[in-house]
Amino acid sequence: MCGIIGYCGPKPAAPILVEGLKRLEYRGYDSAGIGVLENDVLHLVKRAGKINDLRNALPDGLGGSFGIGHTRWATHGGVTDRNAHPHADGRGNLCIAHNGIIENYTALKRNLETKGYEFRSETDSEVIAHLIADLYDGDLERAVKSAVRLLKGTYGIVAMHRSEPGVLVGARNGSPLVLGVGHGEMLLASDVTAMLEHTKQVIYIEDGEVVRMTADDHRTTDTRDNRIDRSVETIGWDLEEIEKNGFDHYMEKEIFEQPESIRRAMQGRLDPDTATSHLGGLNMTNRELLDIERVKVIAAGTSYHAGLVASYLLESLARLPAGAELASELRYRNPIVERNNLYFAVSQSGETADTLYAMREIQRKGGRVLGICNVVGATIPRESDGGVYIHSGPEIAVASTKAFTSQLTAFYLFALLIARKRDMSYSAGLSFMRELERIPEKVQVVLDRAAAIREIAKKYAGAQSFLFLGRGINYAVALEGALKLKEISYIHAEGYSAAEIKHGPIALINEETPSLFIVPDDALRDKIISNMKEVKARNGKVIALGVDGDNELADIADDVMFVPSTNELLSPFLTVIPMQLLSYYTALERGCNVDQPRNLAKSVTVE
Ligand code: F6R
Repeated sequence: MCGIIGYCGPKPAAPILVEGLKRLEYRGYDSAGIGVLENDVLHLVKRAGKINDLRNALPDGLGGSFGIGHTRWATHGGVTDRNAHPHADGRGNLCIAHNGIIENYTALKRNLETKGYEFRSETDSEVIAHLIADLYDGDLERAVKSAVRLLKGTYGIVAMHRSEPGVLVGARNGSPLVLGVGHGEMLLASDVTAMLEHTKQVIYIEDGEVVRMTADDHRTTDTRDNRIDRSVETIGWDLEEIEKNGFDHYMEKEIFEQPESIRRAMQGRLDPDTATSHLGGLNMTNRELLDIERVKVIAAGTSYHAGLVASYLLESLARLPAGAELASELRYRNPIVERNNLYFAVSQSGETADTLYAMREIQRKGGRVLGICNVVGATIPRESDGGVYIHSGPEIAVASTKAFTSQLTAFYLFALLIARKRDMSYSAGLSFMRELERIPEKVQVVLDRAAAIREIAKKYAGAQSFLFLGRGINYAVALEGALKLKEISYIHAEGYSAAEIKHGPIALINEETPSLFIVPDDALRDKIISNMKEVKARNGKVIALGVDGDNELADIADDVMFVPSTNELLSPFLTVIPMQLLSYYTALERGCNVDQPRNLAKSVTVE
């Protein structure tokens, strides 16, 4: 969603801000702008559209060595130049950029209007600029603190004032802000990727904190002026990880990185001597792990699908009752939190508002929540009671791919750990572990077949509607396949249990609606084949995704894709890859913007 970047230092600010915004593009946005101070004049340049539109609109030779930038994902007000950030006060003395939603902006706006302030945009954010102007008495930091005390809602804010050149002030409540500490320069951003080119030394700003920075100094306090000292942390990501490295799209790169990212998620966490796993970050004793009576996964989108796989896995492998629920639903239904329930909040970004608020609700009721996250230092891992980092490296494409298989990896490690504490023998544990270790090379085998999947994508790229059907642990993969296709190719797609089609979806079947069946070599294979035949009998087109050697599939289906065979419970690692590739190639065929699909944001930080 929206992105913030601020810069104070010796270099010209505008190119640094624009480059920073470019790095934030992946989060999803519809307009962008920067504000820089040069020769006592506050220059605001804002454009609806892409960063390149903003770049083209910048005056030649725009100087000034401090400023702020923003990418906007519209919530209040249309996608226009005016609604883009930064927003200035009426006199052009100060400007702000804001992520989040100000819930009481109507009341604040009315009050400011009666004092003579004129609003120029339809946004909730503009109220912050006028509010700070109203409270300003020569000290920006103090004015920001007074202003945020009046705000209700979520915000990450950065502000600058003409009378205080070289000073930026940031404030956070619910929308991430990270301070980047460079040599003689300082950055403030909503996401570390925006500053990686300049520094890897960061301080995470927490909710309720205000940071004042200059090129060589920074100070963090709460809104009551109490000083907060937090140590500088080093970002573990490299610049080259956020480049495309020869791939056409980030999504393609991230799909093809999966053998390595899965391996990384497992690294150092498997112990053949005891046939179990080590997950140091859980912060739970052996006894506490043994006492778990039920696991509940809370998440959104693709991460929720990883949770569905996990719940099936935990019940089958570890014989532990488990379930997954959409975080957005759980939060508002007064969930029952029982002693010995263990919750997992799963989130690639670690900032998804629905998941974060659901997690806080569970914790408020006394529940223990572990995070499974990718972005180190994000809010969910920081607020959780423990957890597992999946170490996928930055996931830049909006459509999640490698994070999904790494989230699975974390759950498989956890399931093995619990299973071995309950009734799984050493030898059964070891053979499961060995097969898990073989997953990266089997994923590579599937990736090596990408060209064949591309041909299938070409054949069906004109479809209006698609069904994805799976059963058992692969039911969740069918849901994920449908989500992937719809979000990047804009083809209407539904995921169903193959058994369910005769309870409704079979009415959709005609020659134009392809059905993709996941047919692993398990106890339900023959039943799925019957479902495929039902579709064929109604002239539906069938694509089968089967296991190497299952030659019967070609006699029934119009097209067939194969994955290597593996343990039935591990099959989602392999069956999801063709789904990702099929979606990617279909989107390419249809000329869609693969990495930044319309209307979508990478990290959904509002409810
Ligand atoms: C789909 C996708 C989204 C995210 C969802 C949760 O490809 O990326 O559905 O999975 O928005 O995001 P995180 O995992 O960051 O909480």
